[in-house]
Amino acid sequence: MEGKKVLVTGGAGFIGYHLCSKLSSFTDNVTIYDNLSSGTMQNVKDVPKAKFVKGDILDLKTLCEQPKQDLIYHLAAQVVVGYSMENPLADFETNAKGTLYVLEKARKDDAKVVFASSAAVYGNPTVFPTPESYGFHPFSCYGLSKVVGEQYCQMYKEQYGLEVVITRFANVYGLRCHGVIHDFLDKLAKNPDKLEMLGTGQNCRDFVHVSDVVEALLMLGDRKDVNGEVYNLGLGKTTSVLELADMILKILNLQNRTEVTTTGVSWQGDVTKIWFDITKAKKELGWTPKVTLEESIKEVIADRKIKV
Ligand SMILES: NC(=O)c1ccc[n+]([C@@H]2O[C@H](COP(=O)([O-])OP(=O)(O)OC[C@H]3O[C@@H](n4cnc5c(N)ncnc54)[C@H](O)[C@@H]3O)[C@@H](O)[C@H]2O)c1
Repeated sequence: MEGKKVLVTGGAGFIGYHLCSKLSSFTDNVTIYDNLSSGTMQNVKDVPKAKFVKGDILDLKTLCEQPKQDLIYHLAAQVVVGYSMENPLADFETNAKGTLYVLEKARKDDAKVVFASSAAVYGNPTVFPTPESYGFHPFSCYGLSKVVGEQYCQMYKEQYGLEVVITRFANVYGLRCHGVIHDFLDKLAKNPDKLEMLGTGQNCRDFVHVSDVVEALLMLGDRKDVNGEVYNLGLGKTTSVLELADMILKILNLQNRTEVTTTGVSWQGDVTKIWFDITKAKKELGWTPKVTLEESIKEVIADRKIKV
């Protein structure tokens, strides 16, 4: 990484912040390119060594005016499944067309691209744990726009000789994250007597800590032998939302106090179970996720200084 020019689209977001922090310890040439639609200035300020460009990936001119890069991590995206079902056009613009624009920038620079895709490309899998070879079965517009992004990456590799790597993330969490863990903690901070969860609580997710994902992203940015490859990045375990709630209540010593209820209905496009087969990343990269779900819930709770 030393000396490399690295651009991170979506670098002001949750995963982008953690990636840029780590990258900045290896190179002084990190650029965060983000329109701040969901990312924050705080995340940018907390990586003082990185250069920040407030820009949209859909603004091809500004994107291409950035100095020549060696490596582009493409993380910028519309990330909300429910939003993608209500706004399929906007989701397509950012995730599909936006990825194509980032690939154009990479083609101009002859830069390597590491693309952040998602478990959503598998839809509702019938094979568990799900390997990369399961193929595309998207169940939401978000999943479909990520499939399109992946396919464009492969097209640019085949037709223009671009170096690309695709990573499919399971549910990434850790400090500064959004999503179900923070949602539960917010609700419990407001009212420790009651926890209402969306859906049935039976839905299962593969929760992987952001530090493990960042470690894999750094490896993939550096390695020469991963061109065109696709890697699942998850913990390789599955946990139901009810089990997750139990874990949180136990850690907070609330298990005999909080009444847990479910709404029964979820958002359109929500999937039943995510459980990644991570054998490929383990074997080929020597990557093993290290942080357990329990450890990192404790980390998030300690950081938020939650007292109930
Ligand atoms: N967090 C997860 O559990 C998870 C799971 C699967 C895949 N992913 C993928 O990982 C990537 C990062 O996710 P995250 O959780 O950090 O989300 P995030 O919302 O925190 O970060 C996304 C960033 O992209 C920026 N952005 C959005 N549209 C943009 C645009 N048009 N131009 C420039 N910047 C734009 C946002 O401002 C934000 O900073 C996304 O591609 C997401 O689809 C995340």
